[in-house]
Amino acid sequence: MANLEVDLGFLRLKNPVIAASGTFGYGDEVRDFVDPSILGGFVTKGLSIRPRKGNPPPRTCETPCGMLNSIGLENIGIDRFLEEKLPKISSLDTAIIVNIFGESIDEYREVAKRLRGVKEISAIEINISCPNVEKGGMIFGKDPYLSSKITEVVLNSSDKPVIVKLSPNVSDISAISKAVEKAGANAISLINTITGMAVDIETRRPVLGNIYGGLSGPAIKPIALYMTYSVVKSVSIPIIGGGGIMDYRDAMEFLIVGARAVQVGTANLIDPAICAEIIDGIRAYCEEKGIEDINEIIGSLKEERDG
Ligand SMILES: Cc1cc2nc3c(=O)[nH]c(=O)nc-3n(C[C@H](O)[C@H](O)[C@H](O)COP(=O)(O)O)c2cc1C
Repeated sequence: MANLEVDLGFLRLKNPVIAASGTFGYGDEVRDFVDPSILGGFVTKGLSIRPRKGNPPPRTCETPCGMLNSIGLENIGIDRFLEEKLPKISSLDTAIIVNIFGESIDEYREVAKRLRGVKEISAIEINISCPNVEKGGMIFGKDPYLSSKITEVVLNSSDKPVIVKLSPNVSDISAISKAVEKAGANAISLINTITGMAVDIETRRPVLGNIYGGLSGPAIKPIALYMTYSVVKSVSIPIIGGGGIMDYRDAMEFLIVGARAVQVGTANLIDPAICAEIIDGIRAYCEEKGIEDINEIIGSLKEERDG
């Protein structure tokens, strides 16, 4: 059997497949469909200091080769997560990564503080990249200074490794990646959704209650892959790549360009057990090609053309 274990430096994953934030609940809701313990890890829905109701409906719609969402970071708040959800997931044999979000730098600090000493949590993922909320989110993620400031604040208020999740809605993602690396981020994940909208031509109204939202799914994969490739070249901390991964082939592309692990999002909404299939597919690919260790694949892109 090929070794699928990958090392992020601060965290070893039993395989490189992580379920992405917002598409896997708090890890408990999906258990009728998939055992989260088979995963390398999962990321919780984004959590804020206070519960949030999110945006007005409709909050999702299908688009060619993808979907738009404008959930607006609805969540139960960090305190209820710790009291009600954590006891239900703490025995899982997988990395639990908590995605956090704030409307101000102080709110990021407060959420990070709440996670201090919570031994079940392997890492914090900072969302500085949500495109469909008015305050916070992407406003921070577009600015290298604010991105690095939030990274620093979370690192200083927490005892956990910090993964910074980047926005694709920027002109130079490499500049942001360098800024958060300099601020001490332990790893980078990318990409969050790409801002988009849809209009109902009968009513001439925006389809989403929030007018615009975030595009995800296969439509964004080539963009996500190129951004992952660019960020891998720009920094030396581990990169977790994703955006539009639907099967093991997509996952392999991200690993080949140098992502140390991958995040699977929208695909979970179509089939909550898809990550199990992706892990099996990666293993079968390695075995078929005589690859003993997945780490031989990571960053193995052949950029020169033969002949
Ligand atoms: C319904 C939905 C909710 C999401 N909620 C969050 C969230 O709370 N925090 C976050 O950082 N990303 C969130 N995301 C973004 C995903 O984690 C992922 O980065 C993005 O969808 C791209 O990957 P995909 O094409 O595989 O879905 C959400 C995505 C979807 C579709």
